[in-house]
Amino acid sequence: MQTIALHGDFKEDWVRMFIHLANLFFEETKISKKEETGDLDLRFQERQEGDQFVVTAELTVQEKTYHAEFREISEGGNEKEQNRQWKRLYSHVLLEVLESYTGMNQEWGILTGIRPTKLYHKYRQEGHSAESVKKLLMDKHRVSARKVDLLETIADVQLTAVPDLYRVQEEVSIYIGIPFCPTKCAYCTFPAYAIHRKSGRVETFLDGLHEEIRQLGEWLTERNVKVTTIYFGGGTPTSIEAEEMDALYQVMVESFPFMKDVREVTVEAGRPDTITPAKIDVLKKFGIDRISVNPQSYTDETLKAIGRHHTVQETIDKFKLSRSMGMNNINMDLIIGLPNEGVEEFSHSLQETEKLQPESLTIHTLSFKRASEMTRNKKKYEVADRPTAEQMMKLGEEWTKANGYVPYYLYRQKNILGNLENVGYSKPGEESIYNIMIMEEVQTIIGIGCGASSKFRDPKTGRITQFHNPKDPAAYILSYQESIERKLELLDEIFPQPVSK
Ligand SMILES: C[S@@+](CC[C@H](N)C(=O)[O-])C[C@H]1O[C@@H](n2cnc3c(N)ncnc32)[C@H](O)[C@@H]1O
Ligand code: SF4
Repeated sequence: MQTIALHGDFKEDWVRMFIHLANLFFEETKISKKEETGDLDLRFQERQEGDQFVVTAELTVQEKTYHAEFREISEGGNEKEQNRQWKRLYSHVLLEVLESYTGMNQEWGILTGIRPTKLYHKYRQEGHSAESVKKLLMDKHRVSARKVDLLETIADVQLTAVPDLYRVQEEVSIYIGIPFCPTKCAYCTFPAYAIHRKSGRVETFLDGLHEEIRQLGEWLTERNVKVTTIYFGGGTPTSIEAEEMDALYQVMVESFPFMKDVREVTVEAGRPDTITPAKIDVLKKFGIDRISVNPQSYTDETLKAIGRHHTVQETIDKFKLSRSMGMNNINMDLIIGLPNEGVEEFSHSLQETEKLQPESLTIHTLSFKRASEMTRNKKKYEVADRPTAEQMMKLGEEWTKANGYVPYYLYRQKNILGNLENVGYSKPGEESIYNIMIMEEVQTIIGIGCGASSKFRDPKTGRITQFHNPKDPAAYILSYQESIERKLELLDEIFPQPVSK
């Protein structure tokens, strides 16, 4: 824990911003009140010189002081906009003094949000050229040239995969959350309840889920709203029985309008131990061919340490089974920084992936989610240091390039190892359109089922309203009817009239 004694009066949102930035450097930061002393002593000054805003920072640590100054021409605008600019200037100087003190370099600069690609698209939509966006991201946000190039590649790939990316706001995508898994993995906080069948909980949950799909489907049909993509996630949606999957997809095809125009249906089959020939037959019956079969790692000891209860061999066998039965768009997830893994283990995972050649590969970086087993018992798990995590990420970049994959989506998380990111790679033309939709927030996503978040995006203003279904199946069963009503109200607000054909 690092304590920073901050001099001066700052509002809560400013203090939060300082903490977010400081947490890029330290495991945990506390900001103490002005007169108290801390491990670090921080002072800011601001002034206006003609049309320029100027901010300086002074960080004192054990009698050594680090200085930074940043100036920018005022962008004008109302008070809120000016406040935003000032905040950015403060972030600049804070990042600079912390970089000087720690010797660390933050490639994402002052960006602490989840979706840097969204900012990239925003500038492009405002009419800036690629060159000008690069300059803006580097100068205004301190993003490294390497990361800007990555953003540019991703944005271009996305616009090729979804040429109407900036115009899909009159359609919606659907997320269906199934909260069951064979066992819970140590790093995970997704809704993932161990599936034991005796209590009848799975059946009651599925009854509610069918009802949600029916009622929302009815609304979409009435308003003539097209569905761009459908994604079954969780949890592990293939933990339910083949007959239950069959009944669920039947409700899907009966309920949603224009099913033949849906661009992609994905089922996260994730856990290899849930995949059976009977379940693949059901997927095929409904024409679903995009699935995930997730190794996470190709080292058996790691799978044991994270509580996955399947072997590496099972991942390979189930991948081959899916392939031989006609699944021709398979994604695989890997995680950088799993316990006791370094460059050697990650490199082995890439070599094994090379033999299978999935259509897409998502490389996650381990993030310490507050409520996960791994975070609660952090001492039990030995994970890679920052330089090793960076080296693994580079290895992933090089391997994907050499194997003909392109990066197509990216997101960041809090408490992620090495302040790195998660990057989805695919063979050109095999990108998951749903992943692009969810990351770029270009249209409404209706969340159905457990732990499903909905984002209602007003097609005219772009304003987003969120709604969350409960994570726990017991709470879901009690409240799904209310959730449906609330979601229909929110949909009525953003689509008051039927969409014209
Ligand atoms: C919602 S999970 C579902 C996947 C599926 N149930 C499985 O386990 O294969 C999606 C992916 O997020 C990644 N993930 C989940 N928690 C993570 C964490 N704390 N840090 C990094 N990646 C994580 C894993 O790679 C996982 O495959
Ligand atoms: S990573 Fe997948 S299988 Fe593991 S608990 Fe999370 S959702 Fe379930």
